[in-house]
Amino acid sequence: MDVLKIAEDTYQLSVNVENILFEGVWEMPEGVSLNTYIIKGEKTAIVDGFCGWDGVPETLFELLATMEIDPEKIEYMIINHMEPDHSGWIEAFREINQSVKILCSEKARDLLNTFYGHTENVTCVSDGDTLDLGAGHLIQFTSIPNVHWPDTMASFDSLTGVLFSCDAFGSFGKLSEKKYADDLTDLEMEVYQRETIRYYSNILASFTMAVKKAVAKCREFPIKIVAPGHGLMWRDAKRILDEYDHLADYQKGSAREEITFIWSSMYGMTEKAVNYVKELLEKETIKVNIHQVPNDSWGTVLTSAWTSTGIILAMPTYEYKMFPPMAATLEELGRKKVANRKAFRFGSYGWSGGAQKELDEIMERWNMKWDFLEPVEFAGCPLEEDYQKIGEKVLELIRVVRESQIKK
Ligand code: FEO
Repeated sequence: MDVLKIAEDTYQLSVNVENILFEGVWEMPEGVSLNTYIIKGEKTAIVDGFCGWDGVPETLFELLATMEIDPEKIEYMIINHMEPDHSGWIEAFREINQSVKILCSEKARDLLNTFYGHTENVTCVSDGDTLDLGAGHLIQFTSIPNVHWPDTMASFDSLTGVLFSCDAFGSFGKLSEKKYADDLTDLEMEVYQRETIRYYSNILASFTMAVKKAVAKCREFPIKIVAPGHGLMWRDAKRILDEYDHLADYQKGSAREEITFIWSSMYGMTEKAVNYVKELLEKETIKVNIHQVPNDSWGTVLTSAWTSTGIILAMPTYEYKMFPPMAATLEELGRKKVANRKAFRFGSYGWSGGAQKELDEIMERWNMKWDFLEPVEFAGCPLEEDYQKIGEKVLELIRVVRESQIKK
């Protein structure tokens, strides 16, 4: 855990968390940081506290103590977003400081009541509203609803140019002593970029339209530092805003020249054809991400699928339907609106098919609009002719993916 001065009178307090599932579902192999900010004008404000994830706010209080800040003396609490990774400390804080003035959106005010039964000293703010902390720190608020909860807003300090963006422009991945993106080596940045995609696709993807609007709104501020609630800070604001814009655009379908191959097998019959396809893909120069389900988590598959223009699915039929882990994975891709992909499916069946019918239902239910090549299904083990058909379709898919890049 760390305290870092990031601008005049402005400090970041951060703690890393690992070995937990974000929102109880999303794995984070590189962990995540929780970032809080303190602005010490003539009056002091805390922006987006954190709870240490487990509801214990001691870490935050320890960091305040190292700064010689008495929690009782904090005049303002700015709540950009009420998800408990940012708000779980409020009850404990309120026991110490009953007079703190809270600024948040109307939706956040409602959540503050339903989560913690707190209704006093709350002022709702929205676009154009400001808070004057003195010493030049005029905080401007802008609502960025549905990034990724309806309560979300961002706060901008017009003196320092710091945009406190909470979940927007955040990333998974722990923070080292390097807190700014431009401090990282290319290799370190590669890891972080993957974690940014993981964060976007797992947490924000369902709200991509809202993200696009949020990016456009935030571009209106003369930002010197983007200071999110998770992950690195960005002195090159344009870089992370552009990155978010690109990630949002991947929903339209023509993402990167990349294929995600998601496969599953019960007794190895579909796997025989999977191994054939893996060998074939190795000979091609296109980037491929391969995931077996249920072995790889939804979050990991989503991270790959979000940036991939092409998707190959391989699964057997199971009890007249699709092999359940594959169906669950595709449902989640639908929920997160992984739409408009170029795709191909193959797989084995025993006495009857059924996987295709369920695939069609999932595509329809989530309006995914994937453009499929003709599938290849085989009874039991694949025969030579099946390998040949599958190979042809995989090569065709690669061609289609490449063509879509040219048309972009
Ligand atoms: Fe970082 Fe939506 O909470």
